[in-house]
Amino acid sequence: MNKIFEPSDSILLNEIMRHRRDVRGNRFSDKKIPNDVIEQLLDAALLAPSVGYSQPWQFVVIEEESIKQKVYDSFCEQTEHAVNLFSDQKKQQYKKLKLEGIKEAPVNIAVFYQPSQSPVLGQTSMTEMGRFSVVCAIQNMWLMARALNVGIGWVSIVDPQKVKAAVNAPQDSELVGYLCVGYVNEFLDEPELKKMAWNKQKDKQDVVFKNKF
Ligand SMILES: Cc1cc2nc3c(=O)[nH]c(=O)nc-3n(C[C@H](O)[C@H](O)[C@H](O)COP(=O)(O)O)c2cc1C
Repeated sequence: MNKIFEPSDSILLNEIMRHRRDVRGNRFSDKKIPNDVIEQLLDAALLAPSVGYSQPWQFVVIEEESIKQKVYDSFCEQTEHAVNLFSDQKKQQYKKLKLEGIKEAPVNIAVFYQPSQSPVLGQTSMTEMGRFSVVCAIQNMWLMARALNVGIGWVSIVDPQKVKAAVNAPQDSELVGYLCVGYVNEFLDEPELKKMAWNKQKDKQDVVFKNKF
């Protein structure tokens, strides 16, 4: 069926995108997430585009505290290393930021890329395309979560090998995203890192070019 959307649908989609936030541990509530909500997020992920229709994604839904603890330990180790990479002024600011919600979120989802053993249509020149497809799946989940008033926070300050070990990932699977999922006390109206003056919002005219840079 050639589905046609109404203008109001695009307004709604825009609203969902505008109000999507990265949610960290300071904002998760401890309300349990029903299984069917997690299933809706996974179903949204599976609708994502993928290079050569390869669907190179794998999802591990984590509720076990001992696994979360291992990932959290890795976050703490990596944070020690990360802080030192920034200037003295940024270091102080960095230390005040809450950059994960691993233990506060009732559910974590580790998202992996499983490389194909044979050539993938569309991935023969730009080999990163499989990983980018997995990112598309994550964005689908993020938007569906927001439409369900569920928060997701993406945590990348972890050692992927430690996360792989914690969930018994196959050798060739690569961690793409580690997501903290839960109901929230509050969705901020703007990115928290903008509010905390870590980075400014870029202007459209500084990032969009016509014909040439
Ligand atoms: C690939 C990726 C990795 C991210 N990793 C982290 C992270 O490790 N910790 C964190 O607090 N936020 C992380 N974020 C969230 C960003 O900080 C957030 O998206 C950005 O500040 C804009 O805020 P918003 O998502 O609320 O609009 C990540 C986002 C993306 C897309």
